Parts: sequence; C-alpha cells; structure tokens
Amino acid sequence: MEVKSVTCVAPVNIAVIKYWGKTNEKLIIPLNDSLSGTLHTDHMCAKTTVAISSRFTKDRIWLNGKEESLDNPRLVACITEVKDRARNSGKLTEEELQWNVHICSENNFRLAAGSSVIGRLVYSLSSFFLLSVFFSVYALATLYKIDGDISAIARRGSGSACRSIYGGFVQWITGTNPNGTDSIAEQIVPASHWPEMRVLILVVSDSRKKISSTSGMQRSCETSELLKHRVAKCVPERMTEITKAILKKDFETFAKITMQDSNQFHAVGLDTFPPCVYMNDVSHGIANLIHTINRIAGRTLAAYTYDAGPNACLYLLEKDVPSVLAAVNYFFPTDRPKGEYYRGLNVDVTSVP
Ligand code: PMV
Repeated sequence: MEVKSVTCVAPVNIAVIKYWGKTNEKLIIPLNDSLSGTLHTDHMCAKTTVAISSRFTKDRIWLNGKEESLDNPRLVACITEVKDRARNSGKLTEEELQWNVHICSENNFRLAAGSSVIGRLVYSLSSFFLLSVFFSVYALATLYKIDGDISAIARRGSGSACRSIYGGFVQWITGTNPNGTDSIAEQIVPASHWPEMRVLILVVSDSRKKISSTSGMQRSCETSELLKHRVAKCVPERMTEITKAILKKDFETFAKITMQDSNQFHAVGLDTFPPCVYMNDVSHGIANLIHTINRIAGRTLAAYTYDAGPNACLYLLEKDVPSVLAAVNYFFPTDRPKGEYYRGLNVDVTSVP
C-alpha cells in the first residue's frame, strides 16, 4: 500500500520573558511579546511522524504509544486548514487529499533524566498534545507540499511551542493584525552566538499542573490588575533590554531581567482571583539559593525562571556550571540520577527531591 510520511523533531524552549494571556483564544494571539531559549539537545525533544495513505480508514493520533482522541477542535482546525491550502496549491491529487492522516508523537524527556520525573517537566500531557499538534502541522505541510509561511496555522495548535521552530534565542511577537497572520516567531540569534550559555533544569515535582495554562491565562486576563501593567509597561521595556543584553552577551542584565520577569509572572498568578499558584516551597528555596550564591560570589552566577509549575530552569554560563551544581546538590541533595551534561544552548537535567 502507498504511504507517504514525514517526521520532524521538536526541541523544548524555556521562556525568559513569559507569554501569559491571549487576545484571541481561537487564533491563539498572545497578549504580549515573549522570548525564549531553545534547548539544543537530542536528549529532550518530541518527535512527530505524520503519514497519509489510501488504506487509513480514519484520522488517528498516538502520543507516547497510546492512542488519544482526535476530537480536539484545535487539531481538527489545523488539519482542515492544511488540507485546504494543499488543495489550493494543486500539488496533490484530489484522491491523495482525501486520504486519512495518522500522527504519531513521542517525547524522550523521561530518558533524558534517567527517571520518569522529567516526563512532565515542561509539557503536561495536554501541552504535549498541543506541541504534537503544532509540529504535526509542519510535517503535514511538508507532506502536502505547501509553500509559504504556515506558522500562523501551526500556532493555533500551541502557543509557546511556536518559539521552538528556531534554535538559539527566539521571540514571538503579538503582531497587529486581528487575524493573527503577523503573530509569528522570529530568531534573535542562533545558539552559536552565545555558545557558553547553559540551562540547568531542576525537577522539583512531576505532578500535573493544578491549573492548566489555558484556564490560568483566562482567569488572569479577567481578574489581574498587575497583568495590565505588565503588558502595557514591563514587557515592552524588558523585551528591548533583554534583546540588547543577548546581542551584547551581557549575562548580568540578561539574568536580572529573566529573574524579574519570572517573579512578575508568578506575582500575576497571585494577583489572579482565585490565585494561580505554581511555585512551591522548594521552588522558592532554589530562588533564594540563587540570590545567595550570586551575592556571595559578588557577581551573577545563575538566573532562575519558572513556568506554570514548580520546576526551576537555571540559565548560566558554562564556567559556572560546576559551582552552581555543587551548591544545588549540597542544599537540595537527591538520590535520583544526576543526568548528563550537554553542550550548546543546552540542558543539564538534575533532580531536586
Ligand atoms: O503555550 P502554553 O499554553 O503551554 O503556555 C505556556 C506559558 C508559559 O510557559 C508559562 C510561559 C511561556 O512563555 O512559555
């Protein structure tokens, strides 16, 4: 039987200026610009294969080997739009366009840590589903031979995942067009611009997020006054300043803004009613430790940042990895595997009990 398939590999990104809130839920247009580093490692990524065939009797999706329901409106919208564009491009026959799609996505985050805790580190299952949707669109577009920019369709699958299209430091700009066509990801610099940059990921907890980012964002948009101030004043200033810091490789400024933005994002969570609390006592303990070692060293060794969960991501330069890891392991000892240490704008995985 004839099967056509394409595989793409999607790395994880860690935001330093956080995306929080949408102006359009359906098109996933963000309330504010955001900026992240894409982890450059084979050890933490999601691999998605899409295939079409005349023999497939229906569209199906598998995540980490388990079949999931396909009645997700975001995925259906993406597949329909890709097929419409393919029809207009005239590169596939009408018969091929009728073929059903099989999508198979796997992440190897667990393997990266040598334990299962990393599995839900950045992406809960639902986010992983969206990440898969996002990259399925890319694979589908390749399969259907669609030319031109498809990031606007892909973004409808997942918001923050759109920054993983590029390596290095990447911004996702809100855009001004109400239909979202100019709300796209752009690379600021490739990973080779700042080869000394490292990311340490400290797994504090593998439990599922209590409040999904989608509902947390909705709730913050409805109730947080701080979010309005953040979007109007803080984020635009920080985007400009952190971009300059990245271009100049000014780690002090980069680190300060990264920590301030993470703190403000979690303050917005507390300002939301009822509050969205993502960090726990261990998360706060790690943030304290980073401030303490930075103070004692008389310079900034590391910057912490936390997404919608308790796990800490530390940005730091390669030369400071041994001392920061030693401090983390001393104050937060663990008997879990320490993980490996990779080069590049890169990830080291360690666990905190
Ligand atoms: O893309 P989502 O819906 O999983 O939102 C993620 C939002 C944060 O991770 C908290 C921040 C970000 O910019 O990645």
